[in-house]
Amino acid sequence: MKYERELLLVKLGGSAITFKHKNRREAKKDCIRYAARQIQRAQKERSFSLIVVHGAGPFGHALVAEYGIRDGVRDSRQVEGLIRTHRSVQELCTIVCDIFNEEGLRCFPIQPSACVIQSDKEIESFFTEAIEGMLAVDPELIPVLYGDMVVDRSLGASVVSGDALVSYLARHLEASRVLMGTDVPGVFDGNPRDPASRLIDIINKSNLDRSLASVGVSEAIDVTSGMRGKLEQLVLLGKPTLIFDLNETDALFRALLGKKVRGTEIQL
Ligand SMILES: Nc1ncnc2c1ncn2[C@@H]1O[C@H](COP(=O)(O)OP(=O)(O)O)[C@@H](O)[C@H]1O
Ligand SMILES: [Mg+2]
Repeated sequence: MKYERELLLVKLGGSAITFKHKNRREAKKDCIRYAARQIQRAQKERSFSLIVVHGAGPFGHALVAEYGIRDGVRDSRQVEGLIRTHRSVQELCTIVCDIFNEEGLRCFPIQPSACVIQSDKEIESFFTEAIEGMLAVDPELIPVLYGDMVVDRSLGASVVSGDALVSYLARHLEASRVLMGTDVPGVFDGNPRDPASRLIDIINKSNLDRSLASVGVSEAIDVTSGMRGKLEQLVLLGKPTLIFDLNETDALFRALLGKKVRGTEIQL
């Protein structure tokens, strides 16, 4: 489907919008509001369409770990975990959409478990027409998706990460650019907390293998393998992608306008 306007994809990392490092099931409402305001400001300067995908933080990862449902859902307790995890991430999505709407944006939550089927933890089919149709209703309407539990042909049900949703959507829709907000300024060549580590400005074919080798998982509980899992999803994309710190002043605003932002550019 061709869109009336340029289509951008934005990921709001669970690490940025929740108290993930404290493993506390609470949204960082200020961060969500700040993101909404930057989107609003950017929409006034330039016309574009946007799809937002947010991560789960402890709203998802903690329950998936507690119920042992990372590798499938079979027994009765795991079914309880499936239901609780889904309800919990849906709750976070409601918080995000309420704040976005309070700030004057027009959000429409789309439940991934109702349009995605996986096979062995990989997206097999995704009814993206439900999302594209929303953009056709109004190009300023923002579909909001999130990391969720979905049906899995081989495992009963499994986790679909926000990163995997972004990667799939970027590959299958005519998105021009992908903006991945997280809690670090990008991909480092070592542990980001180590002062000797350097931010990798650009990942392209020449340093891809080296970059992947230097990337760790997450210090917080992240059942989708933190930065390494993110990078593995993003290298599949083939679309210009920026990984940046969502809490950095004006970073999202500038990125939406195509201006330079500190972060890691992926150009493959
Ligand atoms: N080389 C690295 N560069 C950047 N981040 C890294 C690296 N190695 C491990 N990480 C960890 O990855 C985390 C970001 O991934 P993740 O927790 O999954 O974020 P999100 O919730 O935004 O998906 C960072 O907070 C950091 O702890
Ligand atoms: Mg993650």
